[in-house]
Amino acid sequence: DASDPRMAGVKPLPEGLRPVSRPRRLRTTPAMRRMVAETRVAPAQLMLPAFVKEGIDSPVEITSLPGQFQHSTESIKELATQAAEAGIGGIDLFGIPEHKDEIGSQAWDLKGILNAGISAVREAVGDDLVICADTCLDEFTDHGHCGALTPDGRVDNDSTVPLYAAMAVSQARAGAHMVSPSGMMDGQIAVIRDTLDREGFTDVSIMAYSAKYASAFFGPFRDAVNCSLKGDRKTYQQDPPNRREGLRETLLDLAEGADLVMVKPASHYLDVLSDVAEVSQVPVAAYQVSGEYAMLEAAAANGWIDRRRCIGESLTSIVRAGADLVLTYWAIEAAQMFREDL
Ligand code: PBG
Repeated sequence: DASDPRMAGVKPLPEGLRPVSRPRRLRTTPAMRRMVAETRVAPAQLMLPAFVKEGIDSPVEITSLPGQFQHSTESIKELATQAAEAGIGGIDLFGIPEHKDEIGSQAWDLKGILNAGISAVREAVGDDLVICADTCLDEFTDHGHCGALTPDGRVDNDSTVPLYAAMAVSQARAGAHMVSPSGMMDGQIAVIRDTLDREGFTDVSIMAYSAKYASAFFGPFRDAVNCSLKGDRKTYQQDPPNRREGLRETLLDLAEGADLVMVKPASHYLDVLSDVAEVSQVPVAAYQVSGEYAMLEAAAANGWIDRRRCIGESLTSIVRAGADLVLTYWAIEAAQMFREDL
């Protein structure tokens, strides 16, 4: 209204500058937005990381991962059953042994807690979920590093890789459909593939943590697995400033026989994820890590953000950047959420 004194100096939209293109037309109603959405997240593309701990009878909540638990070999079965009922794609198991040693020998002991957890889950859900296991030693070593150490305390690449191979074989034997080497040792995928094949596990797949960064966002996970690491993993995990290197690591893993490749963490590495998705001929996974979960839960608990919308938006963004598969601690809840949204 031109007579409104507050409108002094405001001129109507010039005739020649009325927009020809109006993208807002496709945002007019919820039905319209739903119909034209470029990215949809399906429950089947979510995978739940889960922890199984030796020597406990009932689940123990992880303080820095509210809503996530260290499970017993009994309660992990209930969780897996719930996950299968939710229609998610798979479960990725991590073990927390009572006794750790300098080489992490519980990791490839068939009676070790992770292998016991794998067997329990396989018994509970059979082939209804993809059962994946973390193939790494940091949960099993007393020093908390992902491999065996040299006498002067460095992580020894070439003596660690055979330990991973033994671990992968034991996981396959325990009933894992998929193993997931996350230790970032050079050449690990080739040796694990070769060893699995020689032991008759040609059908067990490898999800390679290909571009895995030395991230401070893994903090809560270290609590979750009672990891005693002092120092950091910067001599084996990638340096956060490096984007091209993520592609290099991925191409190496593909050449070595990875069946799936992964980028980790997810949200702060969407550029790397997008690069990898562009070149990969195998499915690309992204791991929304413990710190990503904890930050959002903490902000939501304070009432500072809308929890449900932020969970949905974060997962949608990861898929939009190119992930075929997302590992997320919200997998079960998010599966229900995305289904309700449909
Ligand atoms: C290594 C491993 C880690 C995570 C997954 N596998 C820890 C690390 O590399 O320090 C972190 C996952 C998370 O933060 O949620 N076994």
